[in-house]
Amino acid sequence: MQPVPPKIKHGLAAGADAAPHRADWTVDQNWHQYTPAQHAAWKTLYQRQTQLLPGLACDAFVAGMRKLPLSAHSIPNFEQLSQVTMKATGWQVVAVPGLVPDDVFFDHLANRRFPVGNFIRGAHELDYLEEPDVFHDVFGHLPMLMHPVMADFIQAYGVGGKRAQGLGKLTELARVYWYTVEFGLVRQKEGLRIYGAGIASSYSESLYALHSPRPQRIAFDLERVMRTQYRIDDVQESYFVLNSLDQLLELAHLDFMPLYARLNGLPSYAAGQVVVTDARLPPEPEP
Ligand SMILES: [Fe+2]
Repeated sequence: MQPVPPKIKHGLAAGADAAPHRADWTVDQNWHQYTPAQHAAWKTLYQRQTQLLPGLACDAFVAGMRKLPLSAHSIPNFEQLSQVTMKATGWQVVAVPGLVPDDVFFDHLANRRFPVGNFIRGAHELDYLEEPDVFHDVFGHLPMLMHPVMADFIQAYGVGGKRAQGLGKLTELARVYWYTVEFGLVRQKEGLRIYGAGIASSYSESLYALHSPRPQRIAFDLERVMRTQYRIDDVQESYFVLNSLDQLLELAHLDFMPLYARLNGLPSYAAGQVVVTDARLPPEPEP
């Protein structure tokens, strides 16, 4: 058996001493420092997902993926990515060392800057990752950031995040991001499709989220989502399904204050819990 290399922590997970010099936690991408092994890890992940996702990811994701300057050859250069995302939806891609503090994250999003981890996972952890790396952040998120609705929604989330932090309501709001931006499904006329970055950047979860009989697939209901816990250590037990991406636009313009008041003191639902009022959807048939 090969010895497993020790886990290297990045960004906030590496401890407060690892904070970069800049207050906004941005760093230079240092593209020239990537090793051939790191570019090879990107290639494996990129080829696997670009072959898998047409037919599983929603049309907007596939269109965004094809418009970005991505290729199997190497980890992309963030400046080149930024030129394309700026032109499409006004978003800039900035490098960060890994997870950043919540207030820093929200400030970036509120100003249409998308923080991307500048490291890539090792070859021994291609299928499961605790910290978002360059593949998750670029391949998972940027295709949907090319879509005007998602572009506006994520900015609104940054603004709302700062407010929620001040109100002590971050847990509830973070669930909205988790079950949309990270693990969202959407109906298309052909059936359920993936738009969440956490699914789209994972080979096994892309198949599981659409086809497995195990998880719940529930029609999106904002209050239900805000009361639902989630898993960070395994595939999800519940997915929430939008009728269309335009639902995100409604959320971007919604005043959450009355919702926070209404949900105050109500118990949370466990990640895979079934609630009697849920509108549940069947898995997609295998092709
Ligand atoms: Fe993410």
